[in-house]
Amino acid sequence: EVRGVIFDLDGVLVDTAVHHFGAWKAIADQLGFSFTEAHNERLKGVSRMDSLNILLEIGGVTLAEEEKQKLAAQKNEQYVSKISTMDAGELLPGASNLLTELQSENIPAALGSASRNAPLILKNTGITPYFEAVVDGNDVEKAKPDPQVFLLGAERMRVPPEDCVVFEDAQAGVDAGRKAGMTVIGVGSPSDLQGAHAYISSLAETNAAHIRKVHEGRQT
Ligand code: BG6
Ligand code: MG
Repeated sequence: EVRGVIFDLDGVLVDTAVHHFGAWKAIADQLGFSFTEAHNERLKGVSRMDSLNILLEIGGVTLAEEEKQKLAAQKNEQYVSKISTMDAGELLPGASNLLTELQSENIPAALGSASRNAPLILKNTGITPYFEAVVDGNDVEKAKPDPQVFLLGAERMRVPPEDCVVFEDAQAGVDAGRKAGMTVIGVGSPSDLQGAHAYISSLAETNAAHIRKVHEGRQT
């Protein structure tokens, strides 16, 4: 039985990938190497510091810890300046309808995001009231693909992990959901995202009935 639904934030509920990309690209430009959308795929779902480490590896750059802290702070400043003017118009297709439907069916929703900026984004897009629990990058020590973020979400909803369905657009997040023992619906294509129980290209392609069907039909 589906007793809780856990949503990743960036790339599932809101279209923030472009803002993350722009802010990381500015850092790469400053350091003098190119950083493409394809490179950016590796940063999705990954924590801020881990993302910086991957970025520096792509550029073949080694920096002292202090310098890395400065760059991470600089990236975050640029990112926050973008999301501080966000509104409900930046919710992805289907997000609002699905949250409303789950609420009317009394299925609790939780957020399971790596982002420390998650509370600001929920507030600016007006969806905070839909969540029974919010778990973000401020709450966990172990980032995705570790299952901690999703397990904590289930615990805060008081729902066993095996009764939860996760929506994820990043490989690290699909892996985390599987490790948590949850049913995982990938938002994206099977070629970019391995191991999910089902795939959709946006939340507009799902609803409570579909979520139940995927959960009940899972083989693994
Ligand atoms: C994830 C994003 O949700 O959050 C990553 O997919 C991002 O791109 C990570 O790096 C951490 O976000 P923040 O806002 O704490 O820097
Ligand atoms: Mg994501």
